[in-house]
Amino acid sequence: MLYTASNPEDETQHLLFHNQFISAVKYVGWKKERILAEYPDGRIIMVLPEDPKYALKKVDEIREMVDNDLGFQQAPLMCYSRTKTLLFISNDKKVVGCLIAEHIQWGYRVIEEKLPVIRSEEEKVRFERQKAWCCSTLPEPAICGISRIWVFSMMRRKKIASRMIECLRSNFIYGSYLSKEEIAFSDPTPDGKLFATQYCGTGQFLVYNFINGQNTT
Ligand code: COA
Repeated sequence: MLYTASNPEDETQHLLFHNQFISAVKYVGWKKERILAEYPDGRIIMVLPEDPKYALKKVDEIREMVDNDLGFQQAPLMCYSRTKTLLFISNDKKVVGCLIAEHIQWGYRVIEEKLPVIRSEEEKVRFERQKAWCCSTLPEPAICGISRIWVFSMMRRKKIASRMIECLRSNFIYGSYLSKEEIAFSDPTPDGKLFATQYCGTGQFLVYNFINGQNTT
């Protein structure tokens, strides 16, 4: 969070944000956890809407904190009773990753803009961050919508988001492994777009809920 240290109102806001963050990421552990995968640096658990209240409360706290971190209004979930939330729990008992997925029927393909002549990888990332994205208005069938995906800033680029999506693909529908073509990202941020392009192996991945993006035919 950006704030002015000498401004009392800003400082209060910062303190509130900090406290909300600390409390949301703290994870004491539950007796019954739905563990999807275990790694040397942590584990991925899944929370479903029918789970005990304490688990749903934690998911709510995390979602609120993620929405604050993303800094813009997120689209409400389509059908709460069918959402699946994956949390990446670090070995030091913190929620360092969160993915909220929902059932969708349609996605819209991102239209890739031609890149100007770009020399370095850094320039490419800068360009990708700045430009608005456009998508087709032609609906394509999709199954799983990634409503939110977030990784704690200090833990990014360690494949936590990639591992959460891998787990999601094999656990979203019982007995089947979703293809990358069946997944769509909700209104991706610049980070989300860079990630999805890499993960899907194409800049023409599917999106839905595009509030902030630009929609073209
Ligand atoms: N810039 C450029 N490439 C990126 C990137 C970034 N910010 N984030 C991911 N990638 C690409 C890289 O190629 C990366 O592989 P590499 O590190 O070996 O180069 C690959 O995607 C896999 O990334 P991964 O480590 O699995 O992603 P992550 O755990 O860092 O999480 C986000 C990615 C987007 C979830 C994370 O940056 C984040 O939480 N951002 C803030 C919230 C947000 O914007 N969410 C997206 C909503 S759509």
